[in-house]
Amino acid sequence: MWDPTAYLRYADERSRPFHDLLARVPAQRPRTVVDLGCGPGTLTATLARRWPAARVVGLDSSAEMIERAAALGEPVDFAVADVRDWHPGPDVDVLVANAVLQWVPGHRELLTRWVAELPAGAWLAVQVPGNFDAPSHRALREVAGTGPWAAELTPLLRAAPVDDAESYAALLTGADCAVDAWETTYVHLLPAPTDADHPVLTWMEGTGLRPIRAALDDRRWAEFRSALRARLAEAYPVRRGQVSFPFRRIFVVARTGAHAQENP
Ligand SMILES: C[S@@+](CC[C@H](N)C(=O)[O-])C[C@H]1O[C@@H](n2cnc3c(N)ncnc32)[C@H](O)[C@@H]1O
Repeated sequence: MWDPTAYLRYADERSRPFHDLLARVPAQRPRTVVDLGCGPGTLTATLARRWPAARVVGLDSSAEMIERAAALGEPVDFAVADVRDWHPGPDVDVLVANAVLQWVPGHRELLTRWVAELPAGAWLAVQVPGNFDAPSHRALREVAGTGPWAAELTPLLRAAPVDDAESYAALLTGADCAVDAWETTYVHLLPAPTDADHPVLTWMEGTGLRPIRAALDDRRWAEFRSALRARLAEAYPVRRGQVSFPFRRIFVVARTGAHAQENP
């Protein structure tokens, strides 16, 4: 289950890749803009402000997230939906999937289906985390795979579920798109107050640790959390009241119908 409050704890750091992604989408007058896996809707609302004449839609499979998003009172149509079942209508000129496709097995096939179904000249903008080999994920895999919970947790440990920027570029140029793909490592400097949990643990509780939490009872979860906290404290030491948390992200912007367009 997604917890909008936990997810929004590092809202500033989490929102930056969204803005960097959308800065590369120069659509002028899109008819419909769809934000897939929109989460708590705060970033979707920025799309409505940027393109006030467009119909803006935010879809997410989590009822908790959509409830939070709808409560914003923004001019956005929010609804519960699974991106795997969703098909773009003929007036979708901008399609955004920010920090969601890492959760969706088979997302490469979805990308090629979407660009085939979008109208020519439409924009697809995707960002996924590329940090599955970072110390945080290695610590998670080590602790989950070696403790008394290993049997329950091993099936939940995902191999890197995303590709690099070059692979997405090859996939989408092969699907007749003009492509702009890149990678960025953000060096997040997270405050580490002495009376609070390790900030990387807090960060992970908002996203990657959710399936682990759901699989363990309260006692096991407390033990697991404490073992992981110790590993994270070694991997990300506190210096001057903060920890340095490098976070790689992968971006791809594709415009459909490359042969019909002169410029990407
Ligand atoms: C890390 S959050 C990103 C939220 C938002 N896009 C943002 O950038 O802040 C991932 C979101 O993807 C949603 N999600 C995961 N799998 C999904 C699926 N198959 N269909 C729709 N939404 C999904 C989750 O419910 C969650 O709200």
